[in-house]
Formats: sequence, C-alpha cells, structure tokens
Amino acid sequence: MHFATKAIHIGSEPDPVTGAVMPPINMTSTFELDSPGHSKGYDYTRANNPNFTRLELLLASLEDAAYATVFSSGMGALSALISTLSQGDKVVALNGVYGGTYRLFNHIFNKFGVEFIDVIPVTVEAVEKALSLKPKWLIFETPTNPLMNIFDIEFFVKLAKKYGVLTVIDNTFASPYCQNPLKLGADIVWHSTTKYISGHSDVLGGVVMSNNEQLKKDMDFARKTLGVNPSPFDCWLIMRGAKTLQLRMEQHQKNAMTIANYLEKHPKVRKVYYPGLKSHQGHEIAKKQMRCFNGMLSVEFNLPLEDTIKMISSFKYFTLAESLGGVESLVSHPATMTHSIIPKKDREKIGISDGLVRFSIGIEDCADLIEDLDKSLS
Ligand SMILES: Cc1ncc(COP(=O)(O)O)c(C=O)c1O
Repeated sequence: MHFATKAIHIGSEPDPVTGAVMPPINMTSTFELDSPGHSKGYDYTRANNPNFTRLELLLASLEDAAYATVFSSGMGALSALISTLSQGDKVVALNGVYGGTYRLFNHIFNKFGVEFIDVIPVTVEAVEKALSLKPKWLIFETPTNPLMNIFDIEFFVKLAKKYGVLTVIDNTFASPYCQNPLKLGADIVWHSTTKYISGHSDVLGGVVMSNNEQLKKDMDFARKTLGVNPSPFDCWLIMRGAKTLQLRMEQHQKNAMTIANYLEKHPKVRKVYYPGLKSHQGHEIAKKQMRCFNGMLSVEFNLPLEDTIKMISSFKYFTLAESLGGVESLVSHPATMTHSIIPKKDREKIGISDGLVRFSIGIEDCADLIEDLDKSLS
C-alpha cells in the first residue's frame, strides 16, 4: 500500500457498531468490565483508549514501524522514553537537538543521575570519543533547528552500532513522509505530532515508534504510569490531519523551494539555509535520505537587530510565533525567542546571529507569500 492510501485507510476502518465512516471519539475515562480483571481490551483511558489504538496503527504504518505509542505531546513522548533509563546512564547528542530536549535532560533527568553529553562541534572523532564512554543512546535530529544541518543517518547508525549504542532520532522536522529513520537502521524514532503530522496548529501530541516489542510494552507502561496520555479527541484530530500529510508536505516543499530561490538572490540576504538548495552543505545527503525537503528554512539577513525585528513584525501572512509544520506560514527570530537564553557571543559561535530568521513555510499561494516578503524587505 502506498503512503497516501495508508494515511487515509489505516486505523480509519468504519465503526463496527454503527458503520460510521469516520471513527467515533471515545470520550470516556473508564470502560465497563465483563468481570473483575476481564475487559474488552480497554479499562482506563490513562492506559489506553480506542482512539489511541487507531492513531498508533496509522502512525506505525506511515513510519514503517512495527509499534507506536502515542502521548500527550512530543515532550511527553520523550519523558516516557527517558524514564526507561537508569541512574548512571549516559546519552550522547549530536549538537542541534530541540531546546526542550536539552532542558528535559539537563534540568530534570540530570537530578536522577542521567548524564547528557552534547557533542560540539560534530566531528567523527568527537562522536567516537563520546560513544566510547558507553552511553545508552546516540540521539539526534536531521534537519536540525534552526540551521537545517543534515546528519547522515546511515553513517551515524553504523558508528553507534560499532559501540553497541542505540540510535534515537527525533523525526519531527522531516515527518514520516519525508524521512523514515527506522528503514535506515535507527532503533527508535519519536515525533512531536503537534507539527507536520497533525498540520493545523490546533493540537499537541507525541509518539514513540520502533520495531522492538519490549520497548512498546515499556512505552505503554510509561504512559499509564507517568500520566502522559493524550486525549481521545486530540488523537482524532491528529488522525484527521495526518490523512493529508503527503499533499501538505509536497506543497510545503514546493513553496519553500520557490521562496528559498527567491531569497537566495535578494541583495538583503547573506545566506539561505534550506536542504533543498544545491548550495546547502547537506544537500547531497538530504537527497539520499529524504523523500522531500519539508517547509522549514532559515535566512541570515544583512540587517542589524532593530531592522530584523522591524521586518519580521511587518509581515501580513507570516505570523510571528513559535512552532512549525502548520498549513499557515510562521516566522520566528531565534536570537530573541527560542535561543535567547544563550549569551550573544556563544550564540554567534554556533551560527545564530541577530539577522537569522526562521520560517515555517505554509501552503498558502506562494505568490502572496513572496509579495509579503518583498514588501517587508523593502
Ligand atoms: C524538533 C522538535 N522536537 C520536539 C518538540 C516538542 O514537541 P511538543 O511541543 O509537542 O512537546 C518540538 C517543539 O517545538 C520540536 O520542534
């Protein structure tokens, strides 16, 4: 079955009781038991719910995974994953993971003895040195936020395997349509389904996927024990959004490519970071491992801070907001928003200047988006 067909049919079978073509939303906290200890498969929504099961079937099929467990948010999913580690365990990260991931490791789980090692800059020698410390996981994202760095998944999976380390990839930026890390050898994939998968900026969710039956049991256990379950209605919304994932991703890419080409030629632009551009340092690897380049791009403008702020506050269609992956275009300013806690000197060392602006390109008519950029830039 092809991707777009899976997205519409898997997990969306008509309701066996009423024949409703669209799945009902099981808004219930608890379920009637046949007798003590004997349920019809569900007993309490913190543990499980038919809307979780439907969404898990769908997401596992889209990511080509054997198992999925859905959670309240991306951070809920990561918390459940980290809860499987023990005191004294180490995790190695390729620099560039989501800020909330750093925060979770360095401000919560560090207190329970889990050590987070961030490899900066990412060189093969530095990664091997960190892997030789016998961590439990190698974690990374590709493309990264906000500079859209690309890591070669097959290469780093092979390197981690050499040291007996599991590879855990946050695939949120790419979505299961653009990239399937499990097929490239990764052990665990997780997503914030808040972003491209649901696609309409109206719900939060997360998912952990793998081909490991024990991990599926551990994730289900962590969900009910930590209480990081989603709501049945949110799962229903995420499923509705995911049905159009392929169409949306193709349009996000088309618009992002047009805008990247336009901005690359603009005199007020110093550099465009978009993996779909031939000028991007990771273009060849991205082409090898991604089916499509998504709609995320960052731009370094030749502008001082005040003018950058003035420009991004004057857009008509690009809403100034955090997050990404919705049908509407968003703009954000890493130096004063997502990365503001990093001192300016350190920020600049990792390439985040005052002139850097991140765009989540939506699926509006691209002519309107270009007109908006043109007006604000002039
Ligand atoms: C790459 C990435 N991973 C994970 C998350 C966390 O997801 P959530 O907001 O659903 O908890 C985000 C949120 O922005 C993200 O951008």
